[in-house]
Amino acid sequence: MAKSSSVFVCTSCGAQTRQFFGKCSSCGSWNSLVEQLQSAAPAADTRRRRPVPNPAEGGEGQPKRSEPIQSVGERPLQRLATGYGEFDRVLGGGLVPGSLVLLGGDPGIGKSTLLLQSCRSMAGRTSVLYVSAEESAQQVKLRWRRLAEVPGADGAGAEGQNLGADFQLLAETDLELVLQELEALRPAVAIIDSIQALHDAELGSAPGSVAQVRECAAALARIAKRQNTALLLVGHVTKEGMLAGPKVLEHLVDAVLTFEGDRFASHRLLRAAKNRFGATHELGVFEMRDRGLAEVTNPSELFLGGDEPSAGTATIVACEGTRPLVVELQSLVSTTSYASPRRTATGIGTNRLHQILAVLEKHLGLPLSRFDCYLAVAGGLEVEEPAADLGVAAAVVASYRDLTMPPGTVLVGELGLGGQLRPVGQLELRLGEAARLGFTRAVVPKGTGLAKVAAGLGLQLLEASTVAAALVAALGVNPADDRM
Ligand code: TYD
Ligand code: MG
Repeated sequence: MAKSSSVFVCTSCGAQTRQFFGKCSSCGSWNSLVEQLQSAAPAADTRRRRPVPNPAEGGEGQPKRSEPIQSVGERPLQRLATGYGEFDRVLGGGLVPGSLVLLGGDPGIGKSTLLLQSCRSMAGRTSVLYVSAEESAQQVKLRWRRLAEVPGADGAGAEGQNLGADFQLLAETDLELVLQELEALRPAVAIIDSIQALHDAELGSAPGSVAQVRECAAALARIAKRQNTALLLVGHVTKEGMLAGPKVLEHLVDAVLTFEGDRFASHRLLRAAKNRFGATHELGVFEMRDRGLAEVTNPSELFLGGDEPSAGTATIVACEGTRPLVVELQSLVSTTSYASPRRTATGIGTNRLHQILAVLEKHLGLPLSRFDCYLAVAGGLEVEEPAADLGVAAAVVASYRDLTMPPGTVLVGELGLGGQLRPVGQLELRLGEAARLGFTRAVVPKGTGLAKVAAGLGLQLLEASTVAAALVAALGVNPADDRM
């Protein structure tokens, strides 16, 4: 090993210092610095130095000289279907050859299951290498068999008998052996499960440390780009809810996907946090069954309560990327027995709830500060966008006044602090989804210009410019009226 001076790298922002500090001087996080031997990077480079591949024969080879942008040839991206329509959409239309995708998520959420099932489907069409650094080959085989028995578990289900013919499995943690196998097989798709479990013997640090994760990923990335292999890396999420060494890997990969969900609920959500080949904030919905993951193509049904309409519920149309989701909100407002009332929200930020309650108190004159308020989004979904505000307000007011929303009503709109109802994006898409699920009334901000569209969809469009007017339109009575 060459000269071994060491630097300290921050695991949360990637900043480097020569000296150890308890607090990172760059991002301010505590105890995030880890030691890294500096000889590591150059050593890894020399070891794998080889002649520059000839662009003519390399297929995806890079030109050696710059060229005018007009003369750069455009080739359509040849995307590879993963077998799951939901997975493909989040990727931006399928796996791009030569791209690097990081799939993160809590342990046990189903990352290995998702990838193994995709492998089943892809192996019928192309060559796949699955590197299992966490489970033994037998364990993977057992699971693979279990999944393989499910008819149509791969989505298409059409690959028939040759399933697994091109599916190579390698249970290995040594980076060097994995690289060798990649070079020998030159698979179209390679899966590394997980990047934290791989280790480079030339580095002093332990597997999973920032230095290891970074070097392993960089070495894999070099080979994948050169061979045009689509590389899927599995990454674990740390206790703080971040991908281990987040900034260290994010810049290196083309897409960062996160797989999330409630361990107690069966559905799982796949999101893109970064994607060089597609839109971010796309959402894929899956359900964990006893024999693997199945895609949920109609997720709105998952997030609708499905019960009889009751007081304190309201339905909104949230938008995740280009995907509209009809979601039910439930609220419970009850007289408080505490000095400061309780406000609890699941699936929506508590600060957002506080703000909406303040707007209702000020502009509708409802004395909500004397009431506890609980709010929940059905199905465990997290709704971040402000377009849910009107729905939250309606659920709270309906619970406070003990009113039931007329059936078939959806509400969409952002609340301004002055009590105005602000326009939201992708309204046409949201209305389409609501109509598709049989909703008949939509309360929306004024000035949408979508009256014709709504009429065509069979939706009654109720436009309002303030939250007070919107609630009157939605509930059919004036909730601010004290004689209620
Ligand atoms: P796994 O893919 O091993 O998670 P990860 O790789 O993200 O750590 O998924 C593990 C969980 O999924 C495990 O708790 C059991 C459950 N599971 C099922 O419910 N059905 C199945 O068919 C499989 C394979 C797993
Ligand atoms: Mg796993």
